[in-house]
Formats: sequence, structure tokens, C-alpha cells
Amino acid sequence: MVYRPARPIRSSEITPKHLWLDRRSLMAGAAAAAGATLLPAGAMAAGERAKLSTTPSKYSTDLKPTSLESVTGYNNYYEFGTGKEDPAQNAGTLTTSPWTVKIDGMVDKPGDYALEDIVPATVEERIYRFRCVEAWSMVIPWNGFELSSLLNKVGVQSGAKFVAFETLVRPEEMPGQRGFFQPLNWPYVEGLRLDEAMHPLTILANGLYGEELPNQNGAPLRLVVPWKYGFKSIKSIVRISLTDKQPATTWNMAGPREYGFYSNVNPKVDHPRWSQAEERVIGAGLLGGTQPTLMFNGYEEEVASLYAGMDLKANY
Ligand code: MTE
Repeated sequence: MVYRPARPIRSSEITPKHLWLDRRSLMAGAAAAAGATLLPAGAMAAGERAKLSTTPSKYSTDLKPTSLESVTGYNNYYEFGTGKEDPAQNAGTLTTSPWTVKIDGMVDKPGDYALEDIVPATVEERIYRFRCVEAWSMVIPWNGFELSSLLNKVGVQSGAKFVAFETLVRPEEMPGQRGFFQPLNWPYVEGLRLDEAMHPLTILANGLYGEELPNQNGAPLRLVVPWKYGFKSIKSIVRISLTDKQPATTWNMAGPREYGFYSNVNPKVDHPRWSQAEERVIGAGLLGGTQPTLMFNGYEEEVASLYAGMDLKANY
């Protein structure tokens, strides 16, 4: 099955944001008044998130997308806990509006940008393979826009070589950032080489399945780099900095021998503790649920030239 809308969705078909926001506060209010929550506070059921105006993309795969249930119910978002079901349980409380992204460093127009000024009115649908370093995979119909378009708008200065990203720190709303056991250092940080960031496959996503991103998937804005292991795709971004130095990255700091800066999907370079040759396909059932992992996660034709002449074992 090819999952693609037959035509772009007209803006008249989209719930105006104020109505949707009203509905959200009504729901939260009603739940609070009842003294009981059927959904975690602030969480919305599928179909309750604002619809996006989307247009298809030539970069989408024809593979059948993983179910919405798995995409939004099996997550890694350590700010909300280390269990796969913790983000869906706990992320509903995160306030995602208003949202500001600081863009700074080696750019012509640094500043604090409101989300509305960053996200285009119509975004693309990008159905991408998604491969986690833990050797599982999904196919996710993201909605978003190329990171390069934003970087071009703010003007990258000559001399900039890397892009650094940061997730917010808000322990009041992020239970994984509270308490004695802290699995990672906060903020969660990631980085790309400038040519990787400017590649047309690299997107900032504000939605999936044609609706605004659920909090557990990194609302309101997250990175998606489909040829790299999933942890590069940093969620809930509050800062984007252009720099001439390779930025530190969270998982590399947590386990330098296990997680490199590049983290390109590569079936020939195993994780020190497990093979990367195969992946468990989420939603494919218990039998026959694995498949071979592809070089650069199937995007070799598009991105191999970025790494021409590089030793990919040394630069894992
Ligand atoms: N971003 C932040 N801020 N915190 C995280 O814990 N987990 C990463 C990545 N981005 C993570 C993050 C990992 S390990 C993966 S596999 C993907 O998000 C998971 O994205 P998904 O839950 O939307 O599938």
C-alpha cells in the first residue's frame, strides 16, 4: 500500500487552531473537574490533534507505514522515562504552545523564533524508514519541511561547519529529569555536519500521519535524519546553533565507544554489544518480524557521496 493523500488538504478543511486549543483546554478542564483522567493529563487521543495541510514528496518510500498505535505507543524519550511506554504515558503534560526556538551562533539573523514563524503553512509528507540503534525499525509518515530551508532563511555564515540542536529542560513537566536516577545529562543535545543538515532528506517534523506531532514523538518540532540511527533525531527542539566545532552529542557522551557522532545506519559495523546486520520490524508480528538492515538505512544512493573516502568503521 502506498500511503499518500490524493491531493493536498485545503486549509478550509483544517480545524482553526483556536478551536482546537479550546477543545484541548475543555478536555483538560473536564477531566480535572471529574477528578479522574481517562487519558494522561493533556494527552489527546488519535484524531484529536490538529490536522495539517500536507503535500506528497518524491522522497517518500512506498513501504507500508507502521500503525499509528505503534508509532505513538512505542517510543524513546528519556525525559519522560526509559520504558518504551513511558513517553505515551507521561508526555501529555508537556506544554508545547507557546514554543520558541533560539537560533544562534554563526547565522546572519540570530533570534528567538516563534514556532509559527518557522513552520510553513503547508508541510510535506515524508514517509521514511526509521531505524533505531537498538535494532528495531518502523516506517513513519512524517510531516515537516527541509531543515535547509530554515537555515537558508536565517543565513548560514561562511565558516560554519556544524549544526547543534538542544531539547528543552523542564523538570516540572518531564519526570525523567527529576529525582535521583538521571539516565542522561540534560539537555539532550545532538549535532550534524553542515552538509548533512543541508541534505534534502533532513527534515524538521511538526507532525505525523497528517496531524500535529504527539508529545511522545517530540512535539512541537523534532529533527528527522532517516539514514542515521534514531537517536540523532532529537525531539522537542528549543535551540539550533551554527558552529565551526563538532558539537558534543548526548549518547556519545553517555557511551563514547558505543555511539559515535556520525551514527550512520551501517549493517557492517556492529554495536559493541549486538549485531546491526538485522532489524526487528515493529508491528510485523512475532513470526518473520526481522529483515536485513540496509546501508544508510536504504538511503545509500542519496547520501553515500557525503561520506566518500571516509572510514565508516572509524567514524561510527
Ligand atoms: N530526543 C530526546 N530529546 N530525548 C530522547 O530520549 N530519543 C532518541 C530520539 N530523540 C530521544 C530523542 C531515540 S533513542 C530514538 S530511537 C528516537 O528519538 C525515537 O523516536 P520516536 O519515539 O518518535 O520513534
